[in-house]
Amino acid sequence: MNEEFLKKNIVLIGMSGAGKSTVGKYIGQKLNMEFIDTDDMIIESTGKTIDRIFEEHGEEFFRFLESDLIKRIYLLERKVIATGGGIILNSNNIQLLKEKGVLFFLSAKVDTLLKNLLSGLCTDDRRPLLKNAQNLHETIRNLYISRKNKYLSSADYIIDVDEKPFNLVGDEIISIFKSLSSCS
Ligand code: S3P
Repeated sequence: MNEEFLKKNIVLIGMSGAGKSTVGKYIGQKLNMEFIDTDDMIIESTGKTIDRIFEEHGEEFFRFLESDLIKRIYLLERKVIATGGGIILNSNNIQLLKEKGVLFFLSAKVDTLLKNLLSGLCTDDRRPLLKNAQNLHETIRNLYISRKNKYLSSADYIIDVDEKPFNLVGDEIISIFKSLSSCS
């Protein structure tokens, strides 16, 4: 086992509804690594929901909080980090996360994202960009098109999540991570 590699973080990137938090918690439990979620940390540190941050201060301020958080956490070791869908919008976030982590892009079709999101979206106070969409499919699609290249170029590994239960996705990531630890 490569000792240095055992300290690495597993970082999950991808669109809302790709399953980053669910998969991240599963991986954390299986590998006995602490799970952290950047949205949860922003909510905790500001005492405000993400909806409220967007409403009161705008998206730009949320992106500032997100980047500020990454600067504070990227040096942590052996964490599973679920990131907000827009983390890739700032290349500095990605550069920092890569210093200490392996980045897995949970890649999903728009239909899969939509299906996963539909159950909770009405009561969701974490996804202001999707909440008031007239046509949710179209909104997700447009957001995805505008971001896809950034997800792809940021990722160390691309994991297809369509039609797969979250534990299978998690096991796939664990297996890649373990193989990196043993051969590098
Ligand atoms: C966002 C995704 C959300 C949250 C915020 C902005 C985005 O996180 O960070 O609403 O820009 O895609 P999830 O990806 O966990 O839904």
